[in-house]
Amino acid sequence: DRSVKIAPSILSADFANFGAEIRAIEDQGADWVHVDVMDGHFVPNLTFGPPAVKAFRPHVKTFMDVHLMISPVDAYIDAYAEAGADMISAHVEAGPHIHRTLQAIRAAGCKAGVCVNPGTPLEAIEYVLDMVDMVVLMTVNPGFGGQKFIMSGVEKTRRLRQMIGDREVHIQIDGGVTPETAPLVVEAGADVLVAGSAVFKGGSVDKPEVYGQNMQAI
Ligand code: DX5
Ligand code: ZN
Repeated sequence: DRSVKIAPSILSADFANFGAEIRAIEDQGADWVHVDVMDGHFVPNLTFGPPAVKAFRPHVKTFMDVHLMISPVDAYIDAYAEAGADMISAHVEAGPHIHRTLQAIRAAGCKAGVCVNPGTPLEAIEYVLDMVDMVVLMTVNPGFGGQKFIMSGVEKTRRLRQMIGDREVHIQIDGGVTPETAPLVVEAGADVLVAGSAVFKGGSVDKPEVYGQNMQAI
C-alpha cells in the first residue's frame, strides 16, 4: 500500500500528556505514531526506555512505529518488542551487524526498518533491502526535533526508490517535514512521512491544516 501515511513524532508532544496527545493526533487522522528512542550515546539526547513505550501502547490505536537511535541495539530489541512496538527501525550506523539486528527484529515479531543518516550512502543498506519493511531516510541529523530539512534527501529518496524496485518496502522520511518539503519527497517516492514540530507546537496539536484530507496536506 503506497498511499502516503503520516506518522507524527511524539518527541514534540507535551511530555506530561502523552495519552491526550496521542488521542488528538489519531482523531485528526494520523496513520501511525512515531516514537523516537534516544540514548545519549548514539545521539546527543535522551528520551524513552521500554517502560515508557509500554505505557504509550494502550493509547495507540493505529500503529506504533519505534525509531531506535541507540547503540548498541540488539540487547534492547526484545524489550521494545515486548513493550508493544509494531515496527522497530534501527540505524545502519549503530553497529557493525545491521543484518543480524534486522533478523532479531523480525524474530521478535515486529516489522523491521533500517535507518540511514544524512551522511551515509545508500550502498550501506543495499544488501539488506530484502529483509526490511521500511527504509528510514533521515533528512536531519538525528537527536532533536525542529531542525531544517537537508535537501539532498530528495535526490536520495529518488535513488532509493529505484534501488528498491518492485520490493514491498516503505520509504519513510524523518526530519524537517513540513507542508513545503513533504510534496518534494512524496514526488520522489516516499510514502511515510514523520512530522514532529509541524504537527505539535507549544505542546499541543495546533496545526490541523497540516492534516486535513487524510493528512494529505503534508
Ligand atoms: C529526529 C527524530 C525525528 C524528529 C522529527 O532525531 O528522529 O523523528 O522528531 O521532528 P521534526 O519533524 O520536527 O523534524
Ligand atoms: Zn524519528
